[in-house]
Amino acid sequence: MNVAVHIFNVLIFFLGESLSEPSNKKFPENFKFGVATAAYQIEGGWADDGKGVSVWDQFAHTYPDRVANGDNGDVACDSYHRYLEDVEMLANMGVNHYRFSLSWPRILPTGYTNQINEAGVTYYKNLISALKENGIEPFITLYHGDLPQTLQDIGGWPNPLLADIFAEFARTAFSLFGDDVKNWTTINEPKQTCITGYGLGNSAPGAPASGIGEYDCMHTLLRAHAKAYHIYDEEFRATQNGRVSIVLDTAWFEPASDSEDDIEAAERALQFEHGWCAHPVYHPDGNYPQVMIDRIAERSQKEGFSKSRLPEFSAEEVDYIRGTFDFLSLNTYTTNLAKWTTDHEIGTPGYYADLSVSTYQDPSWNGSAWIKVVPWGLRKLLNWIDQTYDHPEIVITENGYADDGRLDDPDRINYYAEYLTAVLESIYEDGLNVTAYTAWSLMDNFEWTSGYTIKFGLYQVDFENPNRTRTIKSSADYYKNVIANKCLVDTCEE
Ligand code: NOJ
Repeated sequence: MNVAVHIFNVLIFFLGESLSEPSNKKFPENFKFGVATAAYQIEGGWADDGKGVSVWDQFAHTYPDRVANGDNGDVACDSYHRYLEDVEMLANMGVNHYRFSLSWPRILPTGYTNQINEAGVTYYKNLISALKENGIEPFITLYHGDLPQTLQDIGGWPNPLLADIFAEFARTAFSLFGDDVKNWTTINEPKQTCITGYGLGNSAPGAPASGIGEYDCMHTLLRAHAKAYHIYDEEFRATQNGRVSIVLDTAWFEPASDSEDDIEAAERALQFEHGWCAHPVYHPDGNYPQVMIDRIAERSQKEGFSKSRLPEFSAEEVDYIRGTFDFLSLNTYTTNLAKWTTDHEIGTPGYYADLSVSTYQDPSWNGSAWIKVVPWGLRKLLNWIDQTYDHPEIVITENGYADDGRLDDPDRINYYAEYLTAVLESIYEDGLNVTAYTAWSLMDNFEWTSGYTIKFGLYQVDFENPNRTRTIKSSADYYKNVIANKCLVDTCEE
């Protein structure tokens, strides 16, 4: 981290610590507000009308012991049958956009384009028209965790062939829905898919290959994303006029102290946790961050591998992937502290050993689960991104708070007020180009291996009721007001 960025961040830290009142500045006139969901987390209808099996169907059915309470997404919020209720909730809040994902196996049950499932296509077409009738922009994620099982059967994302297979799916989606959809993202949180799915293997598809699988997975995902982007550019952009990006997630990593070592540790954590995927796409130089290339090569050599466990991009690939975005898309929830530590001993290869930084959260921070409420961390992260990636337009594609699902949810309201204040400060005080904010989530839903035990919704869903009754929470009323007035308090400065 350069010294100027660090001094700036120290300043924000003290400013941030003293701020607790929500900002009274108005959001810019063209600032957009939305909410997000993802197919497997809400749709249900897991085997309806010709849908193929996804890795999440398979994982949750095969290993119920690996998901809290043995939960699964078989029915979830039943949005496959109740999407019109979802649209009503969205319209009530007055959101500008709705970010949702396509279930790849619902559209292409075999994973390939040899078979298109008309019922799946109709479902998304109906959803898109209902949104448009209500003046809500569809904001589509092509891939949000639910890989067709058929493609896992040939090795899943670590198999380089998946880049072309995904590109075919992307082309199909652009051509089916692109006349009505102007905002596309290719892949949601590749880091989570790769680390939990193919590194640790504690989440679907449950294929652990620590220190190898996660890097091979990311290599394919980046190539897959770039192919989809170029397809859009060459075949669809001229007629459809939309925008495409890739959704990356990171927390902010704050140095645990002012020591050079901790500052270096925090920067390394950011490069591993964000730069791993962001640098190849968003950085003007492209390719993986140098610190990852160097550390993983060195550790691989000490471990006796003949080459680095981090695959290499050719010069052509670096060029092909670099710049494949029309805006920078960010999912972020919280902040961690980063402390320098001696390098993990050479032994079992793994992403966290390659990183060798100790991360934790300050016990004095408030919050729930892993989400501690640290709004100054968001402001610092936005500034770090702005400076590291040459001032991109930033769209926040996810941000939100988890609790037990209560209807009266002041903690969630407080989280939104504080994080949106940080967004306003980044716009007005730091001059950043943040153009949209997307709350996670429209309603309580299936939270992956946590099942239905933690809830992010602006609406509550009764998972005991076959109708999956939705009920508005106080936070949805609050967000509705924010959207209507573009303001976080009763009266904003004009
Ligand atoms: C990020 C993921 O994209 C989403 O699927 C998940 O539910 C939220 N974070 C909350 O953990």
